[in-house]
Amino acid sequence: MPRRHYQTTPIFYVNDRPHLGTAYAVISADALARWHRLVGDEVLFLTGTDEHGLKLQRVAEDAGVTPKAWADRTSQVFRDAWESLEISNDDFIRTTDDRHKLAVQRFIQSIYDNGYIYLGTYEGWYCVQCEAYYTEEELAPNRTCPIHGRPVEWLSEENYFFALSRFTDALLEWYEANPKAVRPDTRRNEALSFIRQGLGDISISRTSIDWGIPVPWDERHVVYVWYDALINYCTAAGYGSDEERFAAWWPVVHHLVGKDILRFHAVWWPAMCMAAGITPPAEVLAHGFLLVSGEKMSKSRANQIDPVALAQDVGVDALRYHLLRDVVLGTDSDFSYEGLLGRYNSDLANNLGNLLSRVATVVASRCEGIGPPPRPDEPGHRLARFAEATAAAARDAWERSAPNEALEATWRLIRETNAELEAREPWKLPPGPEVEGVLGDALEVLRIVAILASPAIPGAARRLWERLGLPGVPDEPGAADPEGGRLGWGGYPGGLPVTKGEPLFPRRRDLETGASPAVASR
Ligand code: MSP
Repeated sequence: MPRRHYQTTPIFYVNDRPHLGTAYAVISADALARWHRLVGDEVLFLTGTDEHGLKLQRVAEDAGVTPKAWADRTSQVFRDAWESLEISNDDFIRTTDDRHKLAVQRFIQSIYDNGYIYLGTYEGWYCVQCEAYYTEEELAPNRTCPIHGRPVEWLSEENYFFALSRFTDALLEWYEANPKAVRPDTRRNEALSFIRQGLGDISISRTSIDWGIPVPWDERHVVYVWYDALINYCTAAGYGSDEERFAAWWPVVHHLVGKDILRFHAVWWPAMCMAAGITPPAEVLAHGFLLVSGEKMSKSRANQIDPVALAQDVGVDALRYHLLRDVVLGTDSDFSYEGLLGRYNSDLANNLGNLLSRVATVVASRCEGIGPPPRPDEPGHRLARFAEATAAAARDAWERSAPNEALEATWRLIRETNAELEAREPWKLPPGPEVEGVLGDALEVLRIVAILASPAIPGAARRLWERLGLPGVPDEPGAADPEGGRLGWGGYPGGLPVTKGEPLFPRRRDLETGASPAVASR
């Protein structure tokens, strides 16, 4: 039985457009989903857009269009952006989908029927940007939002409440029984200390707006946008409409979320699942922020970088590689164009690109363009051993959701192979078995690298595969499966035409000549 892995991203508010910060989140989830397909897991990878709430209603009003018309347009911008960044989502959910309305209504009806929802009055400070209430103590100076720094509004309304306070003990038990459910540990501890302080009930409906999903037993109310949004993960797995599908994909769900929305995912969401009678998610993994000059990228700070323009400039693979290689998943990281180009030149142009072009050049001059097979895997075969250890290290790192370590290990193998070529200098040797052995080994390393790097650089990995003359694709499901996969030494059969072609990653000289148009125009 293959393992199942259900990977999600947060669903994005459609008042904003995709920026490099949100692209980073989606690229990270994509790489994890791709890795799981590569080891042979059955994968469901979901992303989408969060389209209800006061914020969106106001943005649309200001623009003189209906909320739905606004949401249609911006949701499509997200879809297009993710497509151009080679995001391999299997589904794209919109909270305005009929299937979602159905699932939300069933989900909250079952919480209501289980006795965890009651009617009350809410008064409090509300940040429209966060779509969240804050207590007086949580506010920043001058009654502003602690996240956005904008003035909050006093709202008072009749609401339905979710009895979150009744889940304090159950949540603590869940944390105790599932030490890996919320990661990294710093975030787990943060959520735990929040729970230990004692949980208050939360308001989950609004009568002041009508842009939302009606509460099924009282249609004067619409469901609060966060309560509605979290349920998207269940909707896409078939909750309320396809029991068999839901049983297959729940609870093997892995939520990748930003650290700012940890509380919703690591406190509210597991409690909501318990209240509705379903198992809480297998994992909530929180990443940090991508910063520009130390500040979070966001619409309100006008410091956004357009990921699509940036990818057009440097290439999708280069952008993806840099974000996955240089950001430690879980921590904040400052983005700079110089950092991106530096990584591009050192790892992609110099190391990987050079290895391919050197090997292809010598295969052309010494082997008539036909790649020889690698030397057999014997105990003393240093490169074979190195490749074996690399595959194990990369596998271990991907399993720990550490793409940067997986890529670091993969690039060590590339550097090692380049060093081997420099030591043997096959370009100086006459045609014959020695040259063939050295080249065959290097071709075999390139084949293994194409598989291991494919979650990060899917397009370049496929182009590399083609240059090696290999049939099929490097990211065939199961290619990195420890049993029966294709990472074992000796998979390159030899006898295939090797193509030099244009450089896979032409060296960039912009650092000497000025900044990227994509970054300069922000
Ligand atoms: N709609 C809610 C999520 C609902 S999930 C059931 C939301 N949307 S958002 O569009 O504001 O943010 C979505 C995600 O983008 C969050 O996880 C947030 O952390 C992430 N990011 C926004 N800016 C970011 C950076 N600058 N860097 C990294 N992630 C960023 O919250």
